[in-house]
Amino acid sequence: MSQHVTPQSPTPSESPTRASSATSPSSVTLAEQLTKASRRDLWDVYSYFAWPDALPEDTWCMSPELCSIYGTEAWTALSETQQRRLSLYEIGNFFSLTLQGERPLVAGMSDLLYSSKLAASQTEYLHHFMDEENKHMVMFGTFCRRYLGKVYPEKKISLPREYAKGEEDMAFFCKVMVVEELGDYYNVVMMRDKRLHSLVQEINFVHHRDESRHLGFGRQFTTELWQKWSPTWSPEVLARFQAWLAAYIKSSWADFYNPTMYKDAGVGDGYALRQMALASPITREHREKASRKLVNYFLRTGMLASQPEL
Ligand SMILES: [Fe+2]
Ligand SMILES: [Fe+2]
Repeated sequence: MSQHVTPQSPTPSESPTRASSATSPSSVTLAEQLTKASRRDLWDVYSYFAWPDALPEDTWCMSPELCSIYGTEAWTALSETQQRRLSLYEIGNFFSLTLQGERPLVAGMSDLLYSSKLAASQTEYLHHFMDEENKHMVMFGTFCRRYLGKVYPEKKISLPREYAKGEEDMAFFCKVMVVEELGDYYNVVMMRDKRLHSLVQEINFVHHRDESRHLGFGRQFTTELWQKWSPTWSPEVLARFQAWLAAYIKSSWADFYNPTMYKDAGVGDGYALRQMALASPITREHREKASRKLVNYFLRTGMLASQPEL
């Protein structure tokens, strides 16, 4: 396996930015601290992992409790062998979703570099942010192509629209936060789950270690953008933004119930399973739990007007 075994809980220094925004340094100061932390934790994606040719057939690749239909009748109707097989496709879908979220993230960050929107220290940190996201894409892409033979394609379609000043940047950073916060919830559960294949644990650990810095920066930077722009918006623009964000979170969750993933795992009619799972109160409870931190941030700052329907 990899040269770095036994994923551990992050030390305080690995997540230096979890403090509330009331006590957090500005994103300019934070960027300086995070650049140092990124340089301290530098890693090489091409030598870090030892990729086995194949994963054992009967191994858990995703914590069963995180599998999209867990707790439903469709889940209990499967044999444990089928559940374990589904877990491979579930982790492949989760890694693909993360990778597909990182692609536009790197593009958007790249557009900001050396612009008047950023201080020098923020540009410097964004180079690390992009470097880390690029490595994550290599890591997730290698896993998916090697063990599933593919990366699941992106499903989201975004239509061109008019934006008020600052609204497009706000939407970009909120999208980043949704993919990173939901992903981190899964990473933290799986890096500690000893039932999983050690490679999967390790990938989740490595991702969480980098993401704890991204999340800290994203939360602070997005708060500052919100404080700058939202007071300049009309009530209509504000309501439009809040409605868009609620819909965006809901559609991000829908991606976890990928019909092709169910078909590939051979567990039944993919579209029927997706419909069943999206309507199930059991899976809704999971979505609400996994989104709590993210939604609380959006409610606290006013980016969401009310609890979104998940
Ligand atoms: Fe990432
Ligand atoms: Fe990230």
